[in-house]
Amino acid sequence: MRKFFLLTYILLLLTVINSVAVNAQTINITTNRTQLVLQVKENGRLYQAYLGARLSETTELSQIYMPGTTLTSSQITGFEAYPVMGTEDYYEPAFEILHADGNPVSVLKFQSFEQNGNETIFRLKDELYPIHVTLHYVAYPEENIIKQWADIYHEEKGEVCISRYASGMLYFESHNYYLMQFGNDWGKEMQMKETKLEYGKKMLDTRLGTRSALITPPFFMVGLDEPVNENHGEVLMGTIAWTGNYRMTFEVDHNNCLRVIAGINPDASRYRLKKNEVFRTPEFIFTLSQNGTAQGSHDMQQWAMRQQLYKGQDDRQTLLNNWENTYFRFDEEKLQQLFNEAKNLGVDLFLLDDGWFGNKYPRNNDRQGLGDWEVMEKKLPHGLTFTIRQCEEQGLGFGIWIEPEMVNPKSELYEQHRDWVIELPDRETYYSRHQLVLDLSNPKVQEFVFGVVDGLMTQCPTIRYIKWDCNSPMTNVYSHYEGRNQGNLFIDYTRGLYNILDRIQLKYPDLTMMLCSSGGGRSDFGALKYFTEFWCSDNTDPIERLFIQWGFSYFMPAKAMCSHVTAWNKKADIKFRTDVCFPYKLGFDLDLKKLTDDERTYCRQAVCEWKRLKHILFSPTIHRLISPYQGNHCVLQRTDKDRSHALVFAYDLHPRFRESLQPVKLQGLNPDALYEVKEIMLMPGEKSRLSFQGKTFSGDYLMHIGLPLLTSNDMSSRIIEIEKLF
Ligand code: DGJ
Repeated sequence: MRKFFLLTYILLLLTVINSVAVNAQTINITTNRTQLVLQVKENGRLYQAYLGARLSETTELSQIYMPGTTLTSSQITGFEAYPVMGTEDYYEPAFEILHADGNPVSVLKFQSFEQNGNETIFRLKDELYPIHVTLHYVAYPEENIIKQWADIYHEEKGEVCISRYASGMLYFESHNYYLMQFGNDWGKEMQMKETKLEYGKKMLDTRLGTRSALITPPFFMVGLDEPVNENHGEVLMGTIAWTGNYRMTFEVDHNNCLRVIAGINPDASRYRLKKNEVFRTPEFIFTLSQNGTAQGSHDMQQWAMRQQLYKGQDDRQTLLNNWENTYFRFDEEKLQQLFNEAKNLGVDLFLLDDGWFGNKYPRNNDRQGLGDWEVMEKKLPHGLTFTIRQCEEQGLGFGIWIEPEMVNPKSELYEQHRDWVIELPDRETYYSRHQLVLDLSNPKVQEFVFGVVDGLMTQCPTIRYIKWDCNSPMTNVYSHYEGRNQGNLFIDYTRGLYNILDRIQLKYPDLTMMLCSSGGGRSDFGALKYFTEFWCSDNTDPIERLFIQWGFSYFMPAKAMCSHVTAWNKKADIKFRTDVCFPYKLGFDLDLKKLTDDERTYCRQAVCEWKRLKHILFSPTIHRLISPYQGNHCVLQRTDKDRSHALVFAYDLHPRFRESLQPVKLQGLNPDALYEVKEIMLMPGEKSRLSFQGKTFSGDYLMHIGLPLLTSNDMSSRIIEIEKLF
């Protein structure tokens, strides 16, 4: 009996010591420019104590007055790292659970933490229920990025149901908050709109499943204290790496504090979690810039190229695509002509688009054949290998279009496997582009979709490039997969997709893939782990494209943004159309025969110049000098990392009569260096009319006096190369 008391006493003592140690715990997560401080408070729970510019080593962190709390209050409320629904917190929680016994609340207590290199892991647990939440934070010091996610699992007897499961949560204490959101619709991707956040909640979310980014792409910026600005002010820029339904909540509370919560959208996704199954949330990625969006977007792009984008540090290739030229109408002879044209253009690849497959239901339009991935004998009687050989004989790589997640009801696949299709039983079906989504939560369907790529690569191992399309959102949401819990469908679909993409990447590491989804319907960092680039929009009108690309440029590396010269907007000349595409991943998708010799020469020149200048074009340093949202002009600058070589792109959209045109001041150059300034990419036989052509200026001059780059000519453009002399 004595022994028992002694043991109990020692255990109690240890608990006290541990809780004293716990009380003193202050954990820092730092990049070179940002600091996130978390503290374990007296109640044994984890709170955010600070998020802002990096502090000095000697700052008195233990003295931090925890925001959102009243000094007089003995109870701690607000700023909990992972607040749970049903506890004392008044606002939007990060986590909600229904335990196996029906109890709807958990209180997550800090257990331990560990720091391995730049990763910090906090282990939280409910003292009454065996439910575990592990919060992960990874800091990228040089890129000034922090990403966070949560792992959730339990050891309860039955299944638990989780209905909120944020990836991460951040708090801010500023006077004002300005949310810049992106998006709109097909053909109007990444349009920017800023609103002041007031008391209450604003949500950016999507529930389209597959084409999740179609209307609301998963990006945001929040200007703290002042509206989002390019060159000054504190701005939070964030995104969620999830190719599916997501939700980002911005809530201003009664103390004028802001909480930002990012995660999977829990709508229609009450997830049933089995014992010991780990539910891993997607990553919430953010940067906090003290110098506006120029710094923030540099850091995002740098991070994306180093850490996230597939082959982010590698080169990119130019291509000719046949879609907007032939649509479904092509045959072997036509393709042979196109291979010749691609060769003359000087591009690296030819990309064969939709319409090459289906026999019982030939894919001659978008109403049939999707899902039947065997080559159409009528169009390509000698088979795909023959066509590929013809392409390669011209010194070109071959790329091919697929849309493996989808099916036309008029297809052999649908006839044979109706249970593989996401479709409501006994109700009228809604179709988007005459097609339906396959149920990727079903392992058999995953096998089939992997097999589409595997089959192509086995049959034609030299395929270098795949355009992976996805033209329908997920509607008629119902899985026929045996035993399927319908609440898990949206999430398990995305996991199924990642599972397939993981297998493809493992087996075909050299294959490069473009992520398409009728344009920007999928443009998230979750998918870009598997794709080298994405199709920003089906809208290739150069004026519209300037706006779309402008929006994406805040987050996406230029090398990931496919930009193809097409025939959209006949009023714009070929120079303007090409110059709009030039700063990104250049490609062509038009009938080159319809161009004049000079126009073709211009395109050829663009390909050569693009290859010469890729080291600047792919630099993460972008300065958005004049926004198209200001009105009639758009100017941007890309600069290499040594500030010795830059390109400036100046576009006049629809200038006003006798508009006053101010010189454009460049940014980010070395003020003491001398630079040669010259206009490049002139039409054949044309001379630059710019007064400064070929002259030398100091960086100081270029940044403080500037260059007269604008004109009052409708849809005209200039590309200026700026090279340091010594
Ligand atoms: C939609 C894509 O955005 C287009 O580029 C093209 O590939 C078509 N699908 C083909 O159906």
